[in-house]
Amino acid sequence: MSKVAIITGATGGLGKEFTRVINSYGDIDEIWIVGRNQEKLNKLKKAYKKTVPICADLSDDGLEIIKEKIKAEKPNVRLLINNAGIGYMGEYEKMDSKEVGNFCNINCTAPAVLISVVLPYMHEGAGILNVSSASSFQPNPYLALYSASKIFVKNLSRALYCELKPRKITVTAVCPGWIDTEMLPKEMNGKKVKYTGMISARSVVKNALVDNRKGKDMSTPGWFSKYFRVYSKLTPTKLVMRQWTRIVKKYI
Ligand SMILES: NC(=O)c1ccc[n+]([C@@H]2O[C@H](COP(=O)([O-])OP(=O)(O)OC[C@H]3O[C@@H](n4cnc5c(N)ncnc54)[C@H](OP(=O)(O)O)[C@@H]3O)[C@@H](O)[C@H]2O)c1
Repeated sequence: MSKVAIITGATGGLGKEFTRVINSYGDIDEIWIVGRNQEKLNKLKKAYKKTVPICADLSDDGLEIIKEKIKAEKPNVRLLINNAGIGYMGEYEKMDSKEVGNFCNINCTAPAVLISVVLPYMHEGAGILNVSSASSFQPNPYLALYSASKIFVKNLSRALYCELKPRKITVTAVCPGWIDTEMLPKEMNGKKVKYTGMISARSVVKNALVDNRKGKDMSTPGWFSKYFRVYSKLTPTKLVMRQWTRIVKKYI
């Protein structure tokens, strides 16, 4: 039975780095890389021998494609990395209802469903990494749906950490601050955007995999995420939201 790692959003900044690192793991035979962009998936396939591309749109019927493959092949899933995610900075009312639905499908439904599909194929020592964000530490106006989706992912992850501990499956919520990937626009509203404490995908992935292996329920790479986690706990939420709004408003 093949020992498999599944990575969603494998074609993006963080996903590519997860793929690169896991490709060198001796105890993984195949990496199922999930993304929408076939060209990018093909490039990864060429670069990393163990990869098996799965072209799937997680806002649509992509989950069914992955579900069918898992049911047909019954792999031994050693790692599930729920990494695919989209972000939107701006006024909530500017998103139409279809965009809102798709957003929730990608950021919330996909990780929740994939965990339930994969769990019967996981055994002792397996790991689940759910990529949340430091945006999950408080609600963020003008990033409202994104921060709500990341709160969903973090809370699901932490609760499952407890539920799955007896099965010796570690569930880790990965909560980085800003990461230098294509997700972040360099400029908004004609202004260069400043990302305080931005870190590399390499450092996020390294920390996340080590934390999961160490049995941790949370991974907070970089000083910003660690600081913000504590700050948002100690400061009234209304004040944190006001401070955030003041910063973000100039870009909208
Ligand atoms: N960048 C940051 O500052 C930051 C900070 C904290 C947390 N995060 C989280 O980190 C994760 C990875 O983000 P990233 O920075 O690497 O972003 P990215 O470079 O934009 O990559 C996003 C990935 O998600 C995939 N994706 C988007 N829509 C999809 C859909 N409908 N169906 C299937 N896949 C879809 C993309 O695949 P295709 O290209 O093939 O469409 C891509 O592989 C996300 O969950 C994000 O929220 C990012």
